[in-house]
Amino acid sequence: MISERFRKELKAFRPYVPGKPVEEVMREYGLTEIDKLASNENQLGPSPLAVEAVKRAAAEIYLYPEASAIDLKKDLAAQYGIGVESLVVGSGGEELLLIIAQTFINEGDEVVVPSPSFGIYNTTTSLLGAVIRTVPLKEKEYDIPGLLAAVNEKTKLVYVCSPNNPTGHIATREQLDALYAGLPEDVAVVLDEAYFEFGKENPAYPDGLEYLAKHPNTLLLRTFSKIDGIAGLRIGYVITSKEIAGEMNKVKQTFTPNRVAQEAARAAMKDTDHRAATIAMNRSSLTAMETTFQEWGLEFFKSYANFIFVDVKTHSARVFEELLKKGTIVRPGHFWGWDNWIRISTGTEEQTGRLLKRLKEVLEEK
Ligand SMILES: Cc1ncc(COP(=O)(O)O)c(C=O)c1O
Repeated sequence: MISERFRKELKAFRPYVPGKPVEEVMREYGLTEIDKLASNENQLGPSPLAVEAVKRAAAEIYLYPEASAIDLKKDLAAQYGIGVESLVVGSGGEELLLIIAQTFINEGDEVVVPSPSFGIYNTTTSLLGAVIRTVPLKEKEYDIPGLLAAVNEKTKLVYVCSPNNPTGHIATREQLDALYAGLPEDVAVVLDEAYFEFGKENPAYPDGLEYLAKHPNTLLLRTFSKIDGIAGLRIGYVITSKEIAGEMNKVKQTFTPNRVAQEAARAAMKDTDHRAATIAMNRSSLTAMETTFQEWGLEFFKSYANFIFVDVKTHSARVFEELLKKGTIVRPGHFWGWDNWIRISTGTEEQTGRLLKRLKEVLEEK
């Protein structure tokens, strides 16, 4: 029987559930406009320089991409003052997380993952037969002693997402120092900095590169999806030691990321105006939400990312559904086992205003 032939890990496998696509929601609820504040996309839209690059690259799509993404790597290497050998470029952070798992994980190996955090750490490693040790946050912070206590001789990877998805809180310098101090050198730290450019707004936010310089067992993950608004093109990168990058590049598929994405990323990283506008929009959206939640007496995590996680004091599935009907998509917290919390991406002033108005209505209806 074919059902006996699938990977055994698939039996208990729980795939990542993405946010609902806009088109589907519009059809389902007969809406003509939707604010999708569910996947932490950049509501300013893509970097205009990236759009121009996409148009230029379109004529070349009959050609395979440059397999080593060398031009983009050179640009990144120059920006960070690192060697190109320290870089792995992939089709978004998600593909890179899979490559990390494929580089390190044998069946029965262990990984340590804080909770709540980005679900892809679990899916990519559990598919390969890893055992996942989950360590809950403590008082809205990473529990470093808890993470260290979960490490044993089978542990290959420890994940730290900073700023964290879905909470938006950061791992402070003191916390990272304590983590590295207690960790064997042959356990790799995956420092997911997908929201790095937003995190930098907090003076206590350490730059992962400092840790990589001291600890070659560090893998920094960054992406063009968020700050540059090109999530649809799928492109991101890992900065790590030459040794780890070399192994990851062996695992990576030959022709990812695609040609258009490589060119768009090169253009986007030079688009300082779009990045500054994104940061400014993010800050005012977060401030508007924080101020309002305080007025309403709702508890939330102080966020240094492009979303906020808030306790709506009623089941998030209902709030999600009711907001959907009114035209705003958010991410319900029950996916992380935080049933009464929702994660809301930042948006334009109008989108944030509509969200707050609609949320007020939904919470008053309960
Ligand atoms: C924490 C975190 N890491 C990585 C990613 C992956 O981003 P992408 O695959 O778009 O580069 C995301 C996307 O939402 C994220 O939230």
